[in-house]
Amino acid sequence: MTTAEAEKKLSEYLRLSDDNTACEKSDISPIKTLRLKDYAKKYDEYRAAGLKSIKRGELALLLLAGGMGTRLGFSGPKGTYPIEEDKSIFGCLFDNLRRDIGDIKVPFFVMTSDKNDQATRAFFKEKNYFGYDPKLIYFFKQEMAPACDFDEKLLLEGKDVPATSPNGNGGFFTSLVKAGYGEILKRCGVKWLNVFGVDNVLAKIADPAFLGAVIEEHKSAAVKAVLKKDPSENVGVVCEKNGHPSIVEYFELGDEQAHERGEDGELLYSAGVTVNYLFDTSILLNTVGQDMPVHKVKKKIPYIGEDGRLVKPEEPNGYKFEILITDILKFFPDFLPVEVKREDEFAPVKNLHGTDSVDSARKLLEARRNADGD
Ligand code: UTP
Repeated sequence: MTTAEAEKKLSEYLRLSDDNTACEKSDISPIKTLRLKDYAKKYDEYRAAGLKSIKRGELALLLLAGGMGTRLGFSGPKGTYPIEEDKSIFGCLFDNLRRDIGDIKVPFFVMTSDKNDQATRAFFKEKNYFGYDPKLIYFFKQEMAPACDFDEKLLLEGKDVPATSPNGNGGFFTSLVKAGYGEILKRCGVKWLNVFGVDNVLAKIADPAFLGAVIEEHKSAAVKAVLKKDPSENVGVVCEKNGHPSIVEYFELGDEQAHERGEDGELLYSAGVTVNYLFDTSILLNTVGQDMPVHKVKKKIPYIGEDGRLVKPEEPNGYKFEILITDILKFFPDFLPVEVKREDEFAPVKNLHGTDSVDSARKLLEARRNADGD
């Protein structure tokens, strides 16, 4: 991106983010979740329905791998991180896929960004596409967003090189369509898109029961959710905002709301969100488009100082701009959060150590291996 292009894009993002902050105040209420016990009761029925749909070619996968993975502090694409001795995060995801649908192959879209596209493609090639059919793997790049300082002045990360970052995981659909893949979805009769993050090494993807639940319950979108460990856990929860399905971040949810319980004694806001969604593609194709709000987020952004040297700030020094998947949910009034077992399906890798880390994910992978009797 040239500086002139970045200036233009920056003013567009600033305009969209200002509109967004103006209507930020929201009314939050609980949303009905398909609870684990009810999911388990109809599991076989759901699984059969989902498998039928997958065999008819109605499902495609979309891996969100455009993020910077800054918290992990790893220089390569996050998916290439060796989570186990001889296994990358990407490798785990393909293993999980085989656990769910064996040899069935479905179109597999991979969203990268300018920052990691080449390295991601090269890794897939080096690993022989993890045993998958390379003809079914479609890479595309998401848009980059310029970053600015607190005075809304464009930051540079090199001489005449604007500081940019991927424009958030909610940018996936417009970028997919811009890459020409909307037509492929239509042409191939793909009805459902399973959109998932790169960093959950226990993610069940192309999960027939999950798909079947959405089909059988006549819903148009769904997300896998895990019960919060305790009311103050730092995880976004599924809810309704101003009457539409949405996610409320832990810092937006007041302490009182976080502890609020229903008549059955259960927490009202307990469905912690995982980045594993199913969307009806016809709704995505017809409605998701230009008017996505843009979120202005304070970040530490490396920039070129007046002396021409790169400065790596210790504190936030400007704004990055992000479009969030959460803002897509409002197009899907028939939205189904599905509770799944945390220990079976949730091992996010955000940090190197501690909560949601390489260490915790390794333990969970090992526990799964032990449970499998391997
Ligand atoms: P995170 O919100 O964890 O962001 O992404 P991140 O960039 O990976 O990590 P940090 O915050 O810098 O440490 C959740 C999912 O969304 C994808 C990520 O790749 C991950 O799968 N994502 C995020 C994108 O594809 N593009 C983006 O612009 C942001």
